[in-house]
Amino acid sequence: MSVNVAVVGVGAMGEAIVRGLLASGWEPHSVAALVRTADRASELAESLGIEAATDAAQAIPGASVVVIAVKPKDVESVLTVISDHLEADAVVLSVAAGVTVAAIESVLVDRAVVRSMPNTPAIVGEGVAGAAVGHHTTEAQLERAISVLEAVGVVEVLDETVLDAVTAVSGTGPAYVFLLAEALIEAAIREGMSRRVAETFVHQTIRGAGHLLTETGVGAPRLRSQVTSPGGTTAAAVHVLEERGFRALVEDAVRAAAKRSRELGSVD
Ligand SMILES: NC(=O)c1ccc[n+]([C@@H]2O[C@H](COP(=O)([O-])OP(=O)(O)OC[C@H]3O[C@@H](n4cnc5c(N)ncnc54)[C@H](OP(=O)(O)O)[C@@H]3O)[C@@H](O)[C@H]2O)c1
Repeated sequence: MSVNVAVVGVGAMGEAIVRGLLASGWEPHSVAALVRTADRASELAESLGIEAATDAAQAIPGASVVVIAVKPKDVESVLTVISDHLEADAVVLSVAAGVTVAAIESVLVDRAVVRSMPNTPAIVGEGVAGAAVGHHTTEAQLERAISVLEAVGVVEVLDETVLDAVTAVSGTGPAYVFLLAEALIEAAIREGMSRRVAETFVHQTIRGAGHLLTETGVGAPRLRSQVTSPGGTTAAAVHVLEERGFRALVEDAVRAAAKRSRELGSVD
């Protein structure tokens, strides 16, 4: 792989990206990290074999993709720190929630920028990310940024205005599934399962249903009708969910998350 990557901020998301790159065949010497403490730098160098440093002058030169994976409140100061060390052709790929392309470009004037919104299944290489392109980003630079995101999942290039919806659907989405899992486990226990057995059945059902959705090419409505015989058990359950407003509830939850994402994005 010819793309050299520097990851700034190696916490949950930054580490997921580093691990994803290594698992997808990036050589450790082509992945660098800029971290805050010398301890973290030596830990990363030892455990993953990557070049980790606390000094931007060491971590950033040579990278053609620079991933910004610090908390949104730290993005501006980090951009200022790296700006003098960026290669002319480098593309800056931010994963910071709510930090707009305009905010990044106001610090990195005339630089290539891609803003993305990944999600936590990236940690197991099963993420999905929306990516919005900056005003000075070439097709080749975008492709480079996408190749990094693809190391941890599926990527769609979208208009930046859609990223609030991405945040509400896939960024927040794992929490909807985990809440469903919690509720199903509690219900299973009340129906007589032990917690261990309930967890096995619920976790594997969610995993299996997810695979059916992504692997068969059959949409959710048809997959649902395939497990719903008239007068059967699924019909009884779905009737309760529909009658109690399940769809409207989900819609309200997504709307609330998208609204919050817009609010957070407008605080600069
Ligand atoms: N986790 C998610 O689900 C998710 C999903 C989508 C997007 N994101 C975005 O990903 C970004 C990171 O989130 P996270 O959950 O990975 O947070 P996190 O675990 O707190 O990681 C942030 C990392 O940045 C490091 N850092 C802070 N200031 C730094 C600096 N000046 N130079 C170098 N490193 C610095 C922190 O190091 P210390 O611990 O030493 O301070 C920490 O390791 C956020 O902007 C978030 O919006 C996260």
